[in-house]
Amino acid sequence: MAIGEATPSGVRPSWPGAGPRSTRLARPARPPWRDFLRVRREFGAGVLEGLTFIHRAYGPFVQTRLPLELYFIADPACIEEVLLKKAEAFRKDRTSRLLSRVVGNGLLVNEGDSWRRQRKLLQPAFHQRQLQSYATVMTGAIEESAATWKSGEVRNVHEDMMAVTLKIVAGTLFGADVSADAGHIGQIISELMEQFGRILGLTARFLPPAWVPTPTNRQFQASARQVDQVIRGIIDDRRRKQSREPDGQSGDDLLSLLIRARDEDGSSMPDAQVRDEAVTLFLAGHETTALALTYSLYLLATHPECQDRLADELGQVLGGRAPGLGDLESLKYTDAVLLEAMRLYPPAWVMAREALADVEIGGFHFRKGAEFVMSPWVLHRDPRNFQSPEAFQPERWEGDLAQRLPRFAYFPFGGGPRVCIGNRFAMMEAKLVLAAALQRFRFEVTPQTELTLLPSVTLRPRHGLRLRLARR
Ligand code: HEM
Repeated sequence: MAIGEATPSGVRPSWPGAGPRSTRLARPARPPWRDFLRVRREFGAGVLEGLTFIHRAYGPFVQTRLPLELYFIADPACIEEVLLKKAEAFRKDRTSRLLSRVVGNGLLVNEGDSWRRQRKLLQPAFHQRQLQSYATVMTGAIEESAATWKSGEVRNVHEDMMAVTLKIVAGTLFGADVSADAGHIGQIISELMEQFGRILGLTARFLPPAWVPTPTNRQFQASARQVDQVIRGIIDDRRRKQSREPDGQSGDDLLSLLIRARDEDGSSMPDAQVRDEAVTLFLAGHETTALALTYSLYLLATHPECQDRLADELGQVLGGRAPGLGDLESLKYTDAVLLEAMRLYPPAWVMAREALADVEIGGFHFRKGAEFVMSPWVLHRDPRNFQSPEAFQPERWEGDLAQRLPRFAYFPFGGGPRVCIGNRFAMMEAKLVLAAALQRFRFEVTPQTELTLLPSVTLRPRHGLRLRLARR
């Protein structure tokens, strides 16, 4: 991809019905048989290209020609029905459910009453007051990493951002005392996710069940057991410490909160559930934020005028001191850069749901078991809602765009009852890290800078991302 271009796909959607926004949809379209090879070719080029193509060619509600009840939606009002208004009628799709092989019954894949109970138990850990206690871990992590960076060197900033967010999630989840263990778990979980991504890419629909002793399954289970052992060790240790405290209230980290959490009937979370939630938070809270930061750095490096403006804001608001919680409100352009980076490169690039019963969406009737795929990548580049959708323009967020947009025209954190529980955590973390990094260094493209996307469980840079650092 040429440097400075905002999209690697080269797909320029010219949507059917572009112009006045229509709320009435035609019947869910099916690509005609004569287009079969064309659709295959587009998906062959990449799933992002394929999704953009089918919506550009056939409209915002498309049914696959494969013998599956599978629909693709790119209409905000219909997505609102699935994720919010009729959320009760859906569960996560089959592919998302496979994640339970990694995260057990953690919040990301849990369903029904058990999900509701766990969401309620976890929610206080993400309240504003609690978030405040994580701010020092966040700034500490970026400062520690940036202190080792040298002016003039070319670095893989994707790796750097992964390391920073890993440190942050480890510190906020487990507390500083177990950061070495946490680094170890982070590594195993990353390996697990890599194996998982490969399996998904190849064989999601024909995946042998977990109990079949294929080499991949065996490798998977060995890694999962290792994660289990380390986390259980930490939980035991924490329980012992808490039982020694007179009030049992020690520890401000997420794990201590999970262990202390009590249901309305006073019951606590079983260890296995604490383990599943800890792995989930580790996983969900680590890579996504690193990606938002990586793409922000890439876009700032390819748009030096935007980077200058951001540096000006940091100078005015911080005047050289470290960013803190009290500055977040004033860092408006920093906020806009992150929103715009997540618009162009949404880390969670696709969401999907399966109907639990017959359901009506967009005025059409669907049978139980129908699956719906919704991609922020496609929605975020819809010219009906975003002018010059392929261009990186953080300024677009400075006016009232967020209020004017239809709900679910922009949804990097999902929406409805299953909206990302860590969305405020992530925005706070990303703003603090971006501000601290940009305060110290200027990020520049080099001939080695190349962005190739890999849409796996998240939207990753396939070969990392290399940028040159210049001290300010
Ligand atoms: C830029 C960073 C992030 C992005 C883009 C992101 C995106 C998302 C999205 C789109 C969902 C909903 C998925 C669906 O509806 O199928 C989600 C759910 C979730 N996220 Fe995040 N996330 C981010 C950061 C975080 C962080 C920092 C944490 C925790 C520390 C976290 C924890 C979770 C959890 C536990 C869920 C499941 C919530 C539920 O189903 O009740 N995420 N995230």
